Amino acid sequence: MSGPVGVLVPAAGAGVRLGPGAPKALRLLAGEPLLVHAVRGLRACAEVGPVVVAAPAPDVDAVAALLAPHDVVVVAGGAERHDSVAAALAALPAQVGLVLVHDAARCLTPSAVVTAVVEALRAGAGAVVPVLPVADTVKRVDGDRVVATVPRADLRAVQTPQGFRRDLLAAAHAAGGQQHTDDAGMVEALGHEVVVVPGSEEAFKVTRPLDLLLAEALLAARRGADPVPGTRA
Ligand code: C5P
Repeated sequence: MSGPVGVLVPAAGAGVRLGPGAPKALRLLAGEPLLVHAVRGLRACAEVGPVVVAAPAPDVDAVAALLAPHDVVVVAGGAERHDSVAAALAALPAQVGLVLVHDAARCLTPSAVVTAVVEALRAGAGAVVPVLPVADTVKRVDGDRVVATVPRADLRAVQTPQGFRRDLLAAAHAAGGQQHTDDAGMVEALGHEVVVVPGSEEAFKVTRPLDLLLAEALLAARRGADPVPGTRA
């Protein structure tokens, strides 16, 4: 499918797991809010057209001012992530047929991941997710007892941006499926195929305080200062 690719950026989470402070998207990374890094990264991708950010409702005006140089629309997010995605989708121009949903918290995602997702959509996939192999052994537990070890070879950790034909994403949100933790899960629940493309370790989600340190180090390495051993040629 040709035509513009829109991006929805859910950025309305409180960031409770980061500890007390501003909403997660407004926490500073190298002196700038995470959300600014995320939007700048998206704007560096030639494939990206209209961008809609879902911000915490009390911060909509402040976020709109912050992102004024980046040509985005800012709407109020909702109580849950899927509410924020739905609010952003409603604000996307009608002519946009392909949609990416990208967590603001994955603020240093390399453009190659965005490109891989868009290429899979353009090649005809209805839903696309970037994935990584799972490094840890994964076990199912019941209370303080292990009940099973899940074979790891077929497991993948799923990142964003996730890409969709707009009609599929809209149908998935209309159908509900609030228990799903990502948009692709909602599309799967409707019985549609979801295709995988390679993700990137650099597309990690800033969730806990340690992730902020990692993000600071990665940014410094990219900027050529204090390289992290093993991250540069
Ligand atoms: O909660 P989690 O870290 O998994 O959130 C992933 C993304 O969803 C974050 O970018 C967060 O800001 C966003 N989110 C949102 N609205 C909510 C909850 C989370 O936009 N109500």
